[in-house]
Amino acid sequence: MDKIRIHGGHPLSGTIKISGSKNSALPILAATLLTREPCTIHRVPDLSDTNYMLQILKHLGAEVERASGTVTVAAAKIDSVAPYDVVRRMRASVCVIGPLLGRCKEATVSLPGGCVIGDRPIDLHLKGFEALGSAVRVEAGNIKVFAPKLTGAVINLRGKFGPTVLGTDNVMMAAALAEGTTVIEGAAQEPEVVDLANFLNKMGAKIEGAGTRRIIVEGVKELHGAEHDIIPDRIEAGTFLVAGAICGKGVTIKRVEPEHVQAVTKALSNCGFKIESTNNSITVSPNGVAAPLELATEPYPGFPTDMQAQMCALLSTTGGISVITENIFPQRYMHVAELKRMGAHVDLEGPTAVIQGVDRLFGAPVMASDLRASAALVLAGLKADGITEVSRVYHIDRGYEHLDEKLSELGAQIERVKG
Ligand code: EPU
Repeated sequence: MDKIRIHGGHPLSGTIKISGSKNSALPILAATLLTREPCTIHRVPDLSDTNYMLQILKHLGAEVERASGTVTVAAAKIDSVAPYDVVRRMRASVCVIGPLLGRCKEATVSLPGGCVIGDRPIDLHLKGFEALGSAVRVEAGNIKVFAPKLTGAVINLRGKFGPTVLGTDNVMMAAALAEGTTVIEGAAQEPEVVDLANFLNKMGAKIEGAGTRRIIVEGVKELHGAEHDIIPDRIEAGTFLVAGAICGKGVTIKRVEPEHVQAVTKALSNCGFKIESTNNSITVSPNGVAAPLELATEPYPGFPTDMQAQMCALLSTTGGISVITENIFPQRYMHVAELKRMGAHVDLEGPTAVIQGVDRLFGAPVMASDLRASAALVLAGLKADGITEVSRVYHIDRGYEHLDEKLSELGAQIERVKG
């Protein structure tokens, strides 16, 4: 298995370009199943997760072509069954259920297994499908959803941890081909939901209100092919901003949507870093001594859970006591034990991490446990004295396009060791 080896302590500077968003690309690729006509999607990041999604689409009968960042999917005839072997590697496979249900009026998809960041139920997705008139059964590890016809309904998708991103996507996709009007209350407002709604509208759907808590979908009889550019990845952008903060002397990220990363730039600015933005670039630079912070993860536009681990790494190296509360996935702290092995002082009290900043971190062999935890370990390695080796790099490859190469462009001493 590959490792990433980092010789810490080399300051970063320069400019990198942000890739297309993983969490937009996955549901948008799934949405191509809603039409028999070809769809062309640009800026699909080259990640193992997007490749898994393309494999799932192929398994379901779609013809898929990929030329660099452009993917063409033609789903003229499709099957509605996605077995365990095909979907087990990626939890986001659940977002094929909505389009299969919309198009075929039935879907059998293997239930996603456990997830290291905590319990990840799909009860809200299923509640939405039921409200549209489907029956839902769990049989032999599969979810079977079927309906003679889908009928628009008023559905509240807010759960005890707030709105659900893929649940909103799934219900929106099924409702696009339902009879009548669906109102999704308590909808997720994430930019990725808006990107999906924009793509669906290009396909002929009638969706209003994406980006607010209430989405209205007027069902149509059929959808047609469309072409779309995926939005920039706000979590990749945030991760590079934190890289620039943790050991940069002026790092600029380009091809970013500054509004989408406002919670991160605000946190970095409160921490004392200098942030300069244009309409599609952000520069982070040091500005004296960095201060501790109190942060809580929230649904968009709040501070994203997908940036919590990276922020833990940064706050481990700024003076004073910082406090982070994880409200979306309260157990998402797999990075903490590994950061402690590098010299960080972090105490976990339930969903809250109390971080006492230290002067120095030390390089160590560490193990990646999930995508964002791995990114946090790489960031800590950039700052640490000596050599850090991050193993299980496949977690990073799930969601960051060429992370090591991009950091290397900024001056990091980082290499991938084949294993
Ligand atoms: N939840 C329920 N029931 C459901 C669905 C969700 O209780 O039916 C709970 C979850 O357990 C969690 C909260 O609701 O506590 C929010 O989960 P959500 O459904 O929004 O998560 P998701 O849609 O499965 C997406 C991203 C995640 C990101 C979360 C939160 C994709 C492919 N994944 O997951 O991204 O953390 O939203 O913003 O879009 C990542 O990229 O590293 C990643 C994990």
